[in-house]
Amino acid sequence: MTLRISVIGTGYLGATHAAAMAEFGFEVLGLDIDPEKIATLTAGRVPMYEPGLSELLLKHVAGHEGSTGRLRFTTSAKEAAEFGDVHFVCVNTPQRKGEFAADMSYVDTAIDELAPHLTRPALVVGKSTVPVGSAARLAERLAALAPVGADAELAWNPEFLREGFAVQDTLRPDRIVVGAQSERAERLLREVYAEPIGAGVPFLVTDYATAELVKAAANSFLATKISFINAMAEVCEAAGADVTLLSTALGHDERIGRKFLNSGLGFGGGCLPKDIRAFMARAGELGADQALTFLREVDSINMRRRSRMVELAREQCGGGFLGRRVAVLGAAFKPDSDDIRDSPALNVAAQIQLQGAQVTVYDPKAVENARKMFPSLAYADSALEAAEGAHVVLHLTEWAEFRALDPAELGAVVAERRLLDGRNVLDADAWRAAGWTYRALGRPS
Ligand code: UDX
Repeated sequence: MTLRISVIGTGYLGATHAAAMAEFGFEVLGLDIDPEKIATLTAGRVPMYEPGLSELLLKHVAGHEGSTGRLRFTTSAKEAAEFGDVHFVCVNTPQRKGEFAADMSYVDTAIDELAPHLTRPALVVGKSTVPVGSAARLAERLAALAPVGADAELAWNPEFLREGFAVQDTLRPDRIVVGAQSERAERLLREVYAEPIGAGVPFLVTDYATAELVKAAANSFLATKISFINAMAEVCEAAGADVTLLSTALGHDERIGRKFLNSGLGFGGGCLPKDIRAFMARAGELGADQALTFLREVDSINMRRRSRMVELAREQCGGGFLGRRVAVLGAAFKPDSDDIRDSPALNVAAQIQLQGAQVTVYDPKAVENARKMFPSLAYADSALEAAEGAHVVLHLTEWAEFRALDPAELGAVVAERRLLDGRNVLDADAWRAAGWTYRALGRPS
């Protein structure tokens, strides 16, 4: 009989995972405490912008014409517990307010709500990013709370998906890492992931702690790589060198590689910043804080990019923001996403506005979310509209749409042709040829 799968938490991770599981051929039930989210998903709509996800949902959500009907949603933990053979925990672990550590309350609650209804053997699989040591603790809690006792088993299977590529990363991940304590758990997860495994995706079985650490280490490495090149950008600026050429030259060394060496405004989002902080906090608890002190520096370099961008904008405005109009292109923390959590672009926009400028923001997908968080910023429906009368234009999220902008067309509506490229991807020569002052972080003026 085919496995039945429940997915607890239907955010970026859970909604995508649930749809992918249906795509793999399983019967799937998604669970969330938010009835509005459940209603949206049941209607076949996605509560966020994620390329390809709504198509995948519509293909499988029950009640839609031509759908496989394999995917349903509920708000009842009891129903999910009774339904599933395998339960994936996909809730978020945000940064605790005023602290570096991760807030584990959603994960803990997910286990506490599910476990008391587990009356037959079940495998609960954690996918959330958690501090190392959580799985061991949760495994005990699960067995203690479940009527089936130790037959309610835990495994840890970290998720590495990138927003904007969530569907493809879930259907065909780079690797599948499973922290498992029994052959049964491993066998069940091999069955769940039979399709990607069959397509050659590496399947690695580890202990709990290693599985948890793979995720923390991977995100720390990526954050370090970005901050490394941004530190080089600071040196380039001081030395009159060009960081984009440096990235290209470094990237030809196969040991280094060109990916994640894009210098600019740095990293943001719901993952990298809070994950490296939670990792430092956890290392401290374990007495290994010294091992990760470099991550403090990684974090500082990253945050410094935002202040530097504000400074550059102030310079371009003639030394002060009062009475100046600033156009900000980009609000999402990265392109192909409407996610504004810890967005460097919005952080810069808000700082500039607080210093007295009139800031108008445009983003292809994230304006609605941005407006909720920063209602006092002005918003436009296009790059051209945002740029009207601007004394400086800031390019802060690298949407393809911004690379395709016509410097002459934009030049016709601004007050002054001054452009700051916070992502180092616009064609400097083309903008300069159209009469713009083009400046970027880490490049000669
Ligand atoms: C990240 C990890 O990539 C993913 O594996 C993990 O599961 C979750 O966190 P995500 O947050 O979706 O994914 O974004 P990612 O593509 O990693 O980009 C993170 C940030 O770094 C963005 O703000 C992006 O603009 C920035 N970035 C990325 C750079 O500044 N330079 C680069 O070269 C690459």
